This record gives sequence, C-alpha cells and structure tokens, in this order.
Amino acid sequence: MTRREATKVIAGTAASLLVAPGLPAQEPRGLIQRAIPSSGEMLPVIGLGTSGVFETGTSAADLDPLMEVMAVLLKNGAKVVDTSPMYGRAEAVTGELATKLKAHDRLFLATKVWTEGRAAGIKQMEKSLDLLGTKKLDLIQVHNLIDLETQLATLREWKKQGRVRYIGITHYTEGSQAEVARVLEKEPGIDFVQINYSLMEDEADQRVFPVARERKIAVLVNRPFGRGNLFNRVRGKELPDFAKEFDCTSWAQFFLKWIVANPAVTCAIPATSKPHHMEDNMRACFGRLPDEKMRQRMEETVASL
Ligand SMILES: NC(=O)c1ccc[n+]([C@@H]2O[C@H](COP(=O)([O-])OP(=O)(O)OC[C@H]3O[C@@H](n4cnc5c(N)ncnc54)[C@H](OP(=O)(O)O)[C@@H]3O)[C@@H](O)[C@H]2O)c1
Repeated sequence: MTRREATKVIAGTAASLLVAPGLPAQEPRGLIQRAIPSSGEMLPVIGLGTSGVFETGTSAADLDPLMEVMAVLLKNGAKVVDTSPMYGRAEAVTGELATKLKAHDRLFLATKVWTEGRAAGIKQMEKSLDLLGTKKLDLIQVHNLIDLETQLATLREWKKQGRVRYIGITHYTEGSQAEVARVLEKEPGIDFVQINYSLMEDEADQRVFPVARERKIAVLVNRPFGRGNLFNRVRGKELPDFAKEFDCTSWAQFFLKWIVANPAVTCAIPATSKPHHMEDNMRACFGRLPDEKMRQRMEETVASL
C-alpha cells in the first residue's frame, strides 16, 4: 500500500468512528471512571497526552493518524486530552482535530500556562483558548510551577469569571515532588495536580498522593510509560500469565492498570501518535483492576526483568 492509500484508509476509519454531530457519545458499558473530588464530576481513568506526539506538521499525512487517535479515545467514551503551549503545535493540532471531529462537548481539554508575569500569562492563556477552539477550558495548570503565585492568582480570577472550570499545577520529576506537595498543602482552591507516576517512577505515592487525597485534589498521571522507557524494559519478554486475572492483554495495559488501580489516581494520560496504541491503551479503561497484592506482584515482576 502506498503512503497516500494508507492515509486514505486511516481517514476513512477515523470518519467511521465519528458520532453524528450533536449527538452525545454513548458511554460504553464497563468504562472505569473516577470522580473529580472538588466537584464529583466523573472522568474515565485513561486519557491522552500530546507532548511530542501532537507536535506535527499540517499535512493530511501528519494529521489523519492523530485524528484517528482522538476518534479512538472518543469511541471508547474517554475524554481527557492534555496539552501545553510548551508542546510546539500540539495545542493547535488538538484544537483542529476537536473541531474536525465536532468533539468539543465530549472532550475534557486540559492545557497549561508556561510563562512568567501576569500579562504574559493572560496573553498565553488567551492564545490557548483560541488555538483549542473554545471560549472556556476544562482545566488550566501551572506548568512545572513556573511563576506559581502570579499564574495561580490569574487562574483563580479566570475560574470565578467562568473562563476555566478547574485549575491545577504540574510537574514531572522526582526532585519536584516535595515542593509540589508543599504547594498542595498551602494553596487553596487547587482542583488538580499532574505528576509523574509509573512502574519506574513511583515516588508520588510517598508525598504527593497523600496530600492530594487529604485536600480532595484530583490526580492526573503524566509519563505513565516513563516516556516510553518502560517498553524497553520488557522488550522481548512475555506478559506474565497472571495478567489474565485483571483482564490485561498487553504490556501497555499492564503498566496503565497498575497506575489506575491506585485509588489516589483520577486519570492517566499516556501519549501516542498511533491509533492501534490508543486502542491498546483504552483497554486499560475496562475490565478488572489489580488489587494491592497483585500490584505488588506486578512491581516485583517488572523489577526482576
Ligand atoms: N510537566 C508536565 O506537565 C508534563 C511532563 C511530562 C508529560 N506531561 C504530559 O503527560 C503526557 C504523557 O507523558 P509522556 O508523553 O512524557 O510519556 P508516556 O506517555 O509515558 O510515553 C509516551 C511514549 O509511549 C509510546 N506508547 C504509547 N502507547 C503505547 C503502546 N500502547 N504501546 C507501545 N508504545 C506506546 C509512545 O509512542 P507511540 O507514539 O509510538 O505510541 C510514546 O513514545 C505528555 O504527553 C504530556 O501531555 C506533562
């Protein structure tokens, strides 16, 4: 098959996955969801990250596979898409695909503010609204705690004005976690924290998750595959037989189910540029989850590889 023919097939599949405009997507049976503690609103436990993978060009060959990735998310009843002005064209691509799929009312769009100074923060967030094709975002987070006090003050104003529904903070390193926990302890009105957590970076369990739980803050998990490195760990290794016991048929589902089985987690946001990987990741939103004993067995298995 030529590249052009492949693109056509992908575009056709994406179109066939669309729900008729205006009709709500039917929620698939058995979708695993968690409540946002500050509101009670339910979110499916797997979403989509856009760092790197949505930083593409403008051609159909660039965009069609990503449209299918988003269509697979929607088809499965999932909704969280996380982006940032830091990620090149990712906000623009996310907005364009959401518009093409007529999906704004079915998505939970999260972006970030990633700059210093009040005026620069406002200008950046206004640009994000524009690029994402909406007048109101679901979530804006202070990216990596940059100019935290200033940007949080604006976010609180925006929330009051109805320009954003939820506000939060993010980071992605072990070294940041004590500071992230301190911010959650002292700053009022934070709805979400986004942090790294995976079978290769599990420190969030120590400081960040307990504070989030106590302060009723939702947790988005970034780098759920350690930026893809977890797959290198298991390359060529067979999935253990016991994975069947929690309806798991791939290593991606193994890594994601270990994360979302932690009750502190609201939603994990794996990034992918490939529709078949998105289908795979979505399977972690269904079926049984491992209990604590099983999670320990999973940790031991990955540590022994
Ligand atoms: N400070 C922050 O706020 C911060 C920092 C880091 C990340 N984040 C957010 O968190 C998101 C996720 O983190 P991440 O992008 O760093 O890394 P990640 O989700 O841990 O890993 C992404 C990598 O996994 C691969 N992958 C995805 N699904 C797969 C599957 N089923 N099978 C095999 N490979 C698979 C992807 O490649 P393919 O394209 O080939 O599938 C990609 O290379 C980011 O995109 C971003 O939205 C935020």
